[in-house]
Amino acid sequence: MPAITLNKVNYSIDGRDILTQVTQQIKIGERIGIIGANGVGKTTLAHLMIGDLSADSGEIAINGRFIYVPQLVVDDSNRSGGENMMQRINESLNNQPDILVLDEPTANLDMTHQNWLIKRLSHFYGTLIVISHDSYFLNHTIQKIWALHEQQVTAYNGNYHDYLVQRNLVNETQNHLYHDAVNKKKQLQRAMDKVRTREKQVTKRPKNISPSDARLISGKGNALKTQKKLGQNAKTMARRFSELEKIDKPHVTKPLKLQTVAGQNYKTRTILKITGETVEAGNR
Ligand SMILES: Nc1ncnc2c1ncn2[C@@H]1O[C@H](COP(=O)(O)OP(=O)(O)O)[C@@H](O)[C@H]1O
Ligand SMILES: [Mg+2]
Repeated sequence: MPAITLNKVNYSIDGRDILTQVTQQIKIGERIGIIGANGVGKTTLAHLMIGDLSADSGEIAINGRFIYVPQLVVDDSNRSGGENMMQRINESLNNQPDILVLDEPTANLDMTHQNWLIKRLSHFYGTLIVISHDSYFLNHTIQKIWALHEQQVTAYNGNYHDYLVQRNLVNETQNHLYHDAVNKKKQLQRAMDKVRTREKQVTKRPKNISPSDARLISGKGNALKTQKKLGQNAKTMARRFSELEKIDKPHVTKPLKLQTVAGQNYKTRTILKITGETVEAGNR
């Protein structure tokens, strides 16, 4: 029995789809890193897996004793965010759960504490699920990536580095296929145009000639045959063309765009300026 099973899971928040028909499994003892852009639904997915939220449809099963260490909300207490997270993870590991789910555990950890955590987790033999943006941490803790993107979970074997290599390969192949298709479509379009022109010429009866004379001139039935042949060619080409149309343009992440307020010209004004700023979290 797998540690966690998701079967055709759908989930939306306020009419916005977060997961669409997601089917995935986590085997007992697997170590998974969940990645994805901010707000894509990683925390929501964790809440669904542990049963804190219920799916709109589909089935989710969790098999074993689990502990979920939530994403840290820094409070006013004296303890730094990092220490707080470390203590919670420590307590969780001491409880020896079958399944440990960590949501952004390293956000407030300095390198020393991060390395401590990596070492500590290497002695955890249960099923490990970590939501993280931290490539260093992921590379040292997990062996499979779940990438959450456009309401889908795609699984990649290996650590974060392996994921990048695989994704780049997929992107490159997709890019290649797409550009190839664009070129072929251009060629096909030209060929189809030619065939259509030719088709018209074959069937066009010269002016001032009766249909029977025209048939005699062109050779009985030849025009029809040629026309039929040309029509078949055109059909084959059109079919190939629509096959090529199915090759999608590779997805490109658009850069962040700042929206200007109507009537105000921000072009000449600085809207954000950061000069020699230092931001600290914990002692990082
Ligand atoms: N209780 C809620 N009510 C309304 N929107 C929510 C609620 N919880 C999360 N969201 C929205 O759902 C999306 C997914 O959130 P979340 O799972 O926290 O993303 P992630 O962890 O990937 O950053 C976000 O756009 C978030 O604003
Ligand atoms: Mg989150």
